[in-house]
Amino acid sequence: MAKKQNTILTHTGSKPSEYHGAVNVPPHRMSTIVFRTYAEFEKVPNVPFSYGRAGTPTTAAFEEAIAEIEGAYRSVSTCSGLAAILTALVAFTKTGDHVLMPDNCYGPGRKTCEEILRKFGVDVEYYPPMIGAGIAALFRPNTQLVFMEAPGSLTFEVQDIGAINKAAKDAGIKTAIDNSWGTPLFMKPLSLGIDVSVMAATKYISGHSDVMLGVVSTNEESWPAVKRAALMLGLCGGSEELYLGTRGLRTLHVRLPHHQKSALDLATWLQEQPQVKRLLHPAFPSCPGHENWKKYYSGSSGTFGIILHETNKEKIAKMLDGMSIFRLGFSWGGFESLLFPEQPQPIRTAEAWQETGFSLRIHVGLEDAEDLKDDLAGGLKRLAS
Ligand SMILES: Cc1ncc(COP(=O)(O)O)c(C=O)c1O
Repeated sequence: MAKKQNTILTHTGSKPSEYHGAVNVPPHRMSTIVFRTYAEFEKVPNVPFSYGRAGTPTTAAFEEAIAEIEGAYRSVSTCSGLAAILTALVAFTKTGDHVLMPDNCYGPGRKTCEEILRKFGVDVEYYPPMIGAGIAALFRPNTQLVFMEAPGSLTFEVQDIGAINKAAKDAGIKTAIDNSWGTPLFMKPLSLGIDVSVMAATKYISGHSDVMLGVVSTNEESWPAVKRAALMLGLCGGSEELYLGTRGLRTLHVRLPHHQKSALDLATWLQEQPQVKRLLHPAFPSCPGHENWKKYYSGSSGTFGIILHETNKEKIAKMLDGMSIFRLGFSWGGFESLLFPEQPQPIRTAEAWQETGFSLRIHVGLEDAEDLKDDLAGGLKRLAS
């Protein structure tokens, strides 16, 4: 009988018989790997391990585990989520090619496109994230890749990933998606026919705010290009990070539902608060693409946004500086709750972001939801005062 997801997450990649009974594959601190014979040496690269950058047993444990839960052919780890995005972009593009990126993509990913891809002569075009099947109108003879991100960074639109993927496939174009928010627990891109799934394992996968790690998972056809790109860019996960990434997987199915439940509780409450103009949580109808979330996702994680009614920086500072549990920080996906204030308007180029004023990205951690609500209530009071 096929094993269920929670069992897979608990055991995948574990090899006690190879490590004196140790349940976890230990961090292998390896750069040099020596060969017993010249004949063995001559077999490189067709040996499991040849040099640290190309992978160690700790790398294999993490990558095999991710590939299994993603339903991927294989996965390759990188030193950060941003490096994973770069790997996917570089794998399928060369000078003169055209790439389509969603206008709401992760900001530093956008900068990477501007400062690296463009420099090497790749034409990057940003498309309105809610374009759906209309993406076909943007295809050119040299379009090589359509990148997706759902929900979008900061503004949380959920793309019609099925329609975009179908249009791209009909035109023979590769597709990739940033799946850091949903994780394979709530969305499996490869089963939807998307070629490549990219994740910042820094977030929910590792889950403890102490790891920088990325991973790219692919179908069989896309694997050689992606693996080659990661190798040639010199990108690899560190031994300690890979170990912690695999350890994080063991509790993902326990943590994520907790993040989900508390986030749904808080979002339900927040949408009624007078200081909140609009809730941007994929599981609520006020979020652009809510219908797509229903179609493609089996759950929602702990990260969402709110648009605030007209306010100013002084009031935002008063709100944030007085928080007692929520902290101010760039990340999300860890055990601790975080807030991140943003004004997304100037970033967009394909289509204006219609909302004015501040938005807050809220990452709901594993604290008690009532305590978090109290903390936010105090913050909103300071905002209004
Ligand atoms: C959606 C998304 N993708 C990728 C990344 C990049 O991950 P990392 O910080 O590990 O480079 C982030 C980081 O915040 C993110 O939010």
